[in-house]
Amino acid sequence: MDTFEAVKTRRAIKKFDSSYKMSSDDVKSLMELAILSPTSYNQQNWRFVTVTEQSVKDKISKAARDQPQPKDGSLVVVLCGNLNAWKDNPKRYWKNHPIEKQELVQNSLSRKYAESPQNRRDEAIRSCGFAAQTIMLAAKQMGLDSCPMVGFEYDELAKVINLPEDHLISMMVVVGKAAEPAAQRGGQLSLDEVVFENHF
Ligand SMILES: Cc1cc2nc3c(=O)[nH]c(=O)nc-3n(C[C@H](O)[C@H](O)[C@H](O)COP(=O)(O)O)c2cc1C
Repeated sequence: MDTFEAVKTRRAIKKFDSSYKMSSDDVKSLMELAILSPTSYNQQNWRFVTVTEQSVKDKISKAARDQPQPKDGSLVVVLCGNLNAWKDNPKRYWKNHPIEKQELVQNSLSRKYAESPQNRRDEAIRSCGFAAQTIMLAAKQMGLDSCPMVGFEYDELAKVINLPEDHLISMMVVVGKAAEPAAQRGGQLSLDEVVFENHF
């Protein structure tokens, strides 16, 4: 499947085939692609909780106000951000480059994030957005479907996945086989309304 096709055919699936199970190799392949998603300064501040165990998926559906996708999908990826990634031994984010580059990045990260919880939070949510789209498009290439989700009780889901204090949950993505196709698109806005040439 080429990229255009994956973009056009990815839809938010509401009903998954609960009998379909991804192999652990499939899950690993998907996550190997997810970690190629871009992050500012290559800080790789996403953390992914991959859930395939039915009892945990059931708890996630409950936290998601009884939406069925998590319990019926094969895999739930809870995309989290590590708010301290900027200071967590950051030279390793550029370990393939000379030490001067590593130090430059370390200093830049400090300047941007040390004093700004808002920057740390924005960056976590940004990074997870890219990773979510990578997961959903890669799933299409693997013959699978997906649903991005934020309709959940944050504190309840945090408890289910044992979220560390210095992390946040950005969203989750359910991956599996669709049992039913998505309804027709809600209705895209026109390019005229959302695209501006050179300035607003
Ligand atoms: C951040 C985000 C959160 C969403 N949360 C939910 C959700 O909790 N439950 C659900 O059924 N769909 C959810 N969706 C799916 C959207 O409703 C869907 O993406 C949108 O209607 C466009 O449809 P499409 O993805 O099929 O093109 C979410 C989508 C995004 C991007």
